[in-house]
Amino acid sequence: MEIFKTIAALQNHLQNQNSRKPVGLVPTMGALHNGHLSLIKTAKAQAATVVCSIFVNPTQFTDAGDLEKYPRPVETDIQKLEQAGCHILFMPEVTEMYPQKEHWHLDIGEIENRLEGEFRPGHYQGVMQIVYKLFVAVKPDLAFFGQKDFQQIRVIEKMVELKNLPIKLVTCPIIREADGLAMSSRNIYLNDAERKHALILSWALLQLKKSFVKEASEKLRQEAIEMITVEPQVKLEYLEIVNMDDLNRDISNPEKGIIALVAAKVGQTRLIDNMILS
Ligand code: PAF
Repeated sequence: MEIFKTIAALQNHLQNQNSRKPVGLVPTMGALHNGHLSLIKTAKAQAATVVCSIFVNPTQFTDAGDLEKYPRPVETDIQKLEQAGCHILFMPEVTEMYPQKEHWHLDIGEIENRLEGEFRPGHYQGVMQIVYKLFVAVKPDLAFFGQKDFQQIRVIEKMVELKNLPIKLVTCPIIREADGLAMSSRNIYLNDAERKHALILSWALLQLKKSFVKEASEKLRQEAIEMITVEPQVKLEYLEIVNMDDLNRDISNPEKGIIALVAAKVGQTRLIDNMILS
């Protein structure tokens, strides 16, 4: 695996070394787990050259403490990517991606402010800002994202559409631990007790999925909320059932389907999860 820290060196390699097309990009913030590695695997099946980026993007953090303590196990990440057969790792410093102070804003409408947007205002502007920069640097034909950040995928789709980028976005399924907990780089913050309490999120979603009928959606949503709120260590932020088109609550005629999304704090750790209901 080739490792690059600057955009110039990366582009020089991609353009001058005749990297085989299509090029697939897997953008990450590192602390790689099996969810990320499944993205690499899917990328390898669909792209001839697979680039993974690891960059803990400061502009998408809404809490300075969260940014500071975000895990950065660089050596193990490199080993995992080598083993997964990733071709190129792009691992820039903050000054490479943000050489000067800059203003970014892209109006993508209401989708930015719902769900995560309500609890982490500005988060998706930061996500779009860095993903746009990575897209410009790598110029991938395909980009791979995990369904766990479902709203992020919709946001990036909107950005790709508005900026007219010739990039196909590929959504990959959530990878779960054997007991159901959705894999996340933040799971390492959970102590044993919190780890057990956190399971209520995927259980509640699964229960909801099993019994889901559109007509009873509000009742089932309330039941799922009750299931979570009886766990005193889990502080629910939202549990919503929305259409998969623009993530609003009108599920009468969804084109792409219906999804339940949840966010909660378990101790100090904020977790999100979701499940497609129909
Ligand atoms: O999903 C993530 O890990 C990040 O939001 C992303 C897409 C790498 C942008 O920093």
